Amino acid sequence: MTSGLLLAPTREELHRALDARKEHGLVALVPTMGALHEGHASLMRVARERVGRGQVVVSVFVNPLQFAPGEDLDRYPRTLDADLDLCAREGVDVVFAPSVDEVYPGGEPQVTVDPGPLGAQLEGASRPGHFAGVLTVVAKLFGLVRPEVAVFGQKDYQQLALVQRMSRDLCLGVEVLGAETVREADGLALSSRNRYLDPDQRRRATVLSRALAAAAERAPYGLPAARWAAMRVLDEEPESEVALDYLAVRTPDLQVVSDEQPAEPTPARILVAATVGTTRLIDNLPLLLGGRPPAIAAD
Ligand code: PAF
Repeated sequence: MTSGLLLAPTREELHRALDARKEHGLVALVPTMGALHEGHASLMRVARERVGRGQVVVSVFVNPLQFAPGEDLDRYPRTLDADLDLCAREGVDVVFAPSVDEVYPGGEPQVTVDPGPLGAQLEGASRPGHFAGVLTVVAKLFGLVRPEVAVFGQKDYQQLALVQRMSRDLCLGVEVLGAETVREADGLALSSRNRYLDPDQRRRATVLSRALAAAAERAPYGLPAARWAAMRVLDEEPESEVALDYLAVRTPDLQVVSDEQPAEPTPARILVAATVGTTRLIDNLPLLLGGRPPAIAAD
């Protein structure tokens, strides 16, 4: 590594690295599970933009607490050398890459963060315990790094909303920024799990972003029109290849959207989850609902 990047595998080394550059200003944390790609690089750029000459810290930790039995904890890609190269290229100051024992020295924590009703729907309904695991590790990382700013991807929209709520509701004092989803040229949202897809699954997976884009286009005609447009695209793929888990439209803060057609274009979010082959993928897009007479048929 030729940059000034410091690798800290322990809490002690993390604190030494942070102390060494304390006078440089704000600290921004980009929490990741590694297997870094261009989407993560964009989070690092948002962090750098926000803190200027301050410190950008990236954590690389595959958090067992957020995986249910039978999920992909064991096969989740671990690519630390390549991750460090990417962080060095992006001018990151510190990579905190702890072991499981370093993060959970006493084994599974006895006290965890309850994600509440916001965390019980969508991903939370399909992956019970997932968000308690996510919020608990993020709270721990906030405690260890003490950042003023943290950056998360909008690709995991519900996670971003929950971390923002946690920081606000528990007065953690961390400004939580959401960075835009980075996509392949054909629309597929970047994800560390895309590497599980074989070429045929990779091609079929674009149905998710295409469905969301179709919904966004029809959204001015109302919620049923948006849903119908998305479902028409999703139906192009057989259930055996792309198994839909949910397609949901919510307010930007993930409350249920009323059935009434808004007279003015009203911001909303459409979220989708599906299993392609054996890989669970999620995606979402902003929508502007309403403003035109309600209609379902495409014209
Ligand atoms: O989005 C992720 O990569 C993880 O859920 C996070 C936020 C790093 C917590 O383990």
